Amino acid sequence: MSEKSQDLQAAGISNRETQARWAIDVNVDPMSIPLAQLDPCHPSLFEADKFKPYFDRLRAEDPVHLTAESMFGPYWSVTRFDDILYVDSHHEIFSSDIDQGGIRMGGRPRQAGEPDPMFHLPMFIMADPPVHDEQRKVVAPMFTSRALADLQDLIRERAIKILDGLPRDEDFNWVQHVSVELTGQMLATLFDIPQEDRHKLIHWSDTIENIGNPDVYETPEQAFAELWKCFEYFDAAWKERAARTTPGTDLISVLAQGESTKNMAPNEFLGNMLLLIVGGNDTTRNSISGGLLAMSQYPAEYDKLLSDPSLIPKMVPEMIRWQSPVAHMCRTALIDTELGGKQIKAGDKVVMWYISGNRDERQIDRPDEFIIDRINPRHHLSFGFGIHRCLGNRLGEMQLTILWEEIVKRLPKIKVVADPVYLRSNFIHGIRELMVRIPS
Ligand code: HEM
Repeated sequence: MSEKSQDLQAAGISNRETQARWAIDVNVDPMSIPLAQLDPCHPSLFEADKFKPYFDRLRAEDPVHLTAESMFGPYWSVTRFDDILYVDSHHEIFSSDIDQGGIRMGGRPRQAGEPDPMFHLPMFIMADPPVHDEQRKVVAPMFTSRALADLQDLIRERAIKILDGLPRDEDFNWVQHVSVELTGQMLATLFDIPQEDRHKLIHWSDTIENIGNPDVYETPEQAFAELWKCFEYFDAAWKERAARTTPGTDLISVLAQGESTKNMAPNEFLGNMLLLIVGGNDTTRNSISGGLLAMSQYPAEYDKLLSDPSLIPKMVPEMIRWQSPVAHMCRTALIDTELGGKQIKAGDKVVMWYISGNRDERQIDRPDEFIIDRINPRHHLSFGFGIHRCLGNRLGEMQLTILWEEIVKRLPKIKVVADPVYLRSNFIHGIRELMVRIPS
């Protein structure tokens, strides 16, 4: 959070006032803005789907770009594929640590007397070695190919049930009926909680994305209070599973029994739960929604798929590249360093725009086209790189693969009938509504 917006928060200023302070006209042509003032991070640009020309310009003219003033304070935008790869693979220079500011824009270093545990939610994605490595090691066995193979039949069974239950000849929101359903059910399984409670997980995941959204929460404090209900929910399960003599294999059990995770403080426990909830929810959900949208924008690719379903394993990573559901990850420079000819100072915020690197023509052939039979479809940045590379990447791909295998088998062409409604976020490139119709 920029000093300005922190001050606003400290003064009890509402989300609506913060948004109003930084309001922009999303229809301004970014080519007409002086380069030094170009600020691609404004959440309104993502909500209005107007961010792309900002990044096209930056990749061409100023690939490592300083925005001196924004609603999140000063930051560097890293927009080319190779530079993003460099930052992501050098965690000893570019830190993810929550005490440095973490991985989202707006984070700032811990001050003396801070943090207030209510607002301070450490998680291993926001940690550097050794804490990161130790905690990641605890949950990693749950995401190996072998462990995931056991989930395949369950995912297929659920995908079939969801698809067969969809309305015919009437418009409905694909996001709610399919993307949220499939990923929500998966999460409940990973945590081994009752399926009917999956809506709670989805709600807390949405809360994270809406902390600063004035349409949902008047103040960030209200959103955090909501998140602590997630702690209350999991606390009882945690204690019960920690006490089991036969260890469970779900995420709560492995964390409750892992040597480096079993004694986590409440805020760290909540933080890691939220990491797994958001990691497993928003990302896959938006790849499912974005994939269908891409198909409707490229009907020849849809025809190609229907005539050759063996393309699905290539198509799925292309959908994940195309959507880039995590738009950015932020780092804090630990030392003075150089990047793309620019001098980065210790303490500077460095934003890796995956959503831009995935459109870099230097690395990806015809990047602005959705092509389901690319030669090397896994050559993308959507899962990040280095020590924080997505732990759930195989699980995410598996859900999309099975879903599309069943779509091809049982549904005629699904028609998108309205423009998508996008999430107001520069972190999760999300789709809130995608109205579709399935002809009978
Ligand atoms: C299409 C689906 C997904 C995408 C695009 C995605 C994307 C990402 C990205 C960009 C990162 C950060 C990488 C970095 O900083 O270098 C990440 C980390 C992570 N993801 Fe995913 N993710 C997906 C699915 C999942 C799923 C299904 C889970 C499982 C619950 C998951 C769990 C995690 C975790 C735990 C981390 C932190 C890893 C670490 O810090 O070591 N993700 N993901």
